[in-house]
Amino acid sequence: MGKLRIGILTSGGDCPGLNATIRGAAKACYQLFGDNKVDIIGIEDGFYGLIHNNCHKMKPSDFSGILTQGGTILGTKRTPYKMMQVIEEDEIDKVAEMKKTYKEQKLDCILTLGGNGTHKTANLLSEEGLNIIGLPKTIDNDIWGTDVTFGFHTAVDIATDVIDRIHTTANSHSRIMVIEIMGNKAGWLTLYSGIAGGADIVLIPEIPYDINKVIKAVEDRAEAGKDFSIVAVAEGAMSKAEAELKKKERMRLRAEEGYTTVTNRVAKEIQAATGFETRTVVPGHMLRGGSPSAYDRVLATKFGARAAQLIKEEKFGYTVAKIGSSITENLLSDVTMKTKFVPVDDDLVITGKSIGVSFGE
Ligand code: F6P
Repeated sequence: MGKLRIGILTSGGDCPGLNATIRGAAKACYQLFGDNKVDIIGIEDGFYGLIHNNCHKMKPSDFSGILTQGGTILGTKRTPYKMMQVIEEDEIDKVAEMKKTYKEQKLDCILTLGGNGTHKTANLLSEEGLNIIGLPKTIDNDIWGTDVTFGFHTAVDIATDVIDRIHTTANSHSRIMVIEIMGNKAGWLTLYSGIAGGADIVLIPEIPYDINKVIKAVEDRAEAGKDFSIVAVAEGAMSKAEAELKKKERMRLRAEEGYTTVTNRVAKEIQAATGFETRTVVPGHMLRGGSPSAYDRVLATKFGARAAQLIKEEKFGYTVAKIGSSITENLLSDVTMKTKFVPVDDDLVITGKSIGVSFGE
């Protein structure tokens, strides 16, 4: 029997822990199958590399020294799922090309590291007959069926540090500081870093806000002698009125007003109503940068090792997950097309409310 050939790709936005996961999977594969019985094939720039057959054979030494490294040694691209079955101007049948690469590279399976979009394409390829195992990555923590995704905890640490640092300026200058935290659909990152950083107001997409309630929360603090406030706003936060609209309409109206997210509008409205000096801060991609935290290194290593075990068991069409304290797996078909939103009665929302944090309701 020839060597086992395992493809590995990272797709979608980068995040801390991708390399740690690649390393965990590769090292566990070498342990389980033997260094000379397995070849790991790096697929470059996510599904783009699979479509264009941009692949290279990796050596065991390629997986050393990358545990602490941010980003991804394989490169990544956003190749939207909704375009996967659409033939564009280049006339490339992407699904057919990916199947062709799989065959030409003589792959036995592919590990796909990515978020919701990646999982959708992974499931599509699995339905097309390829052996696929997913690994859940995203700072947004919004993949269905897993308590946590790798990258999330590091981003929470970074966002919390941002809020901590802004806190000192807010306090010294008696300002209202509105901080935009990544998370277009789900508010996990804003919720966790907002509570960890002691934000006074937390606005997330799942709980549309009433600007008058936000202003009241700022005024109530001022009346209580606190002349500064920290507002943590998720990138995807929306007002109650906006929540009634379809996304396209919401974005069209915002574009007319000159906004893409609500952050600057919220700041403007607070300043206009209260007269308090208000500033916005958008850390953006800094939240995804740099070395993974110890928590994420451990999680990534566990996830990678589990993926190797699934290869051994020939259990394909699954994605690795953490449920409670167990590392387990879900069927790809069960988790795709779903988003793990923050429940409005999430424990941390309730906790926040119990200590007086406003969610702008
Ligand atoms: O999915 C991770 C994420 O960082 C989101 O929080 C954010 O909305 C999006 O990616 C940003 O995408 P890009 O890196 O393509 O600008």
